[in-house]
Amino acid sequence: MAELLGTTTAVRAAVGSARAKGHRVGLVPTMGALHDGHSRLIDRCRGKTDLTIVSIFVNPTQFGPNEDFLRYPRALDDDLKRCQAAGALVFAPGTETIYPNGVRSTFVEVSDLGDILEGASRPGHFRGVATVVLKLFEIVRPDVACFGQKDYQQQLLLRRMALDLHLAVEIDTCPTIREADGLAMSSRNRYLNPEERRAAGVLFGALESARKAVATGEHRAGQVRQILRETIESEPRARLDYAEVRSASNLDPLEEVGPESLAVALLAVRIGNTRLIDNMLLSG
Ligand code: PAJ
Repeated sequence: MAELLGTTTAVRAAVGSARAKGHRVGLVPTMGALHDGHSRLIDRCRGKTDLTIVSIFVNPTQFGPNEDFLRYPRALDDDLKRCQAAGALVFAPGTETIYPNGVRSTFVEVSDLGDILEGASRPGHFRGVATVVLKLFEIVRPDVACFGQKDYQQQLLLRRMALDLHLAVEIDTCPTIREADGLAMSSRNRYLNPEERRAAGVLFGALESARKAVATGEHRAGQVRQILRETIESEPRARLDYAEVRSASNLDPLEEVGPESLAVALLAVRIGNTRLIDNMLLSG
């Protein structure tokens, strides 16, 4: 199994000896229940650095009171095997290590980007994400940290945090890894029963329809949004939370999807009790 680091002291010792050899250090923050999407992030990080640390921590502060914190999948043994096979060290801290003063003390807030879309649907979510990621950055002090495009708003917000707080870390974004039918890999896909799993393919179907419409000349963002909405609504098991077409650089609303304004289509959809998100870049 991969070497398991449980304390900040152990992480700093491992990072310190890597640095003494002149090695570059990479961090892949995760909440565990690792799948092939995470593995791709780890491989990518390994390709950019000499020591890759995967953090596994189901962060309580990014879950709302009625969300799935307690039932979020936990699979530490499998995760350790996967990380060992990938050649990464694992940092799996307890809550008291990450929040030594409890979960009510110091927070990082990224306004505007943190309040829209996922932030509007999940109040406090990005405050929890930014806070835990800053803590992980401080513990590991990585040269590079790898995140997935799957969580588009998250990686954009963390880039903004790194810029605003002058963090000496390169934020790297890895393309979304998908199942054969296009469903974005996610730890939450485990919640889906077979019928729901089939229905979940509608997210990728909607994003593909939007992409094709733009590729064949549809430039009106409102029309593209309508295509997203109608495709989701065609699946009886799906309930739309939001379908948006926004600027890819800052998530501002857009009227036009054009060559000079790279856009991103973003979806949040409930299938049964499971909330799924996905996105796709649209080039006009
Ligand atoms: P988690 O959902 O475990 O995801 C960890 C990282 O893997 C994130 O950067 C996410 O975008 C990426 N990822 C997940 N599924 C992916 C896929 N199908 N393709 C590519 N990348 C994928 O995101 C979090 O954890 C947490 O919010 C965290 C950043 C760890 C803070 O707690």
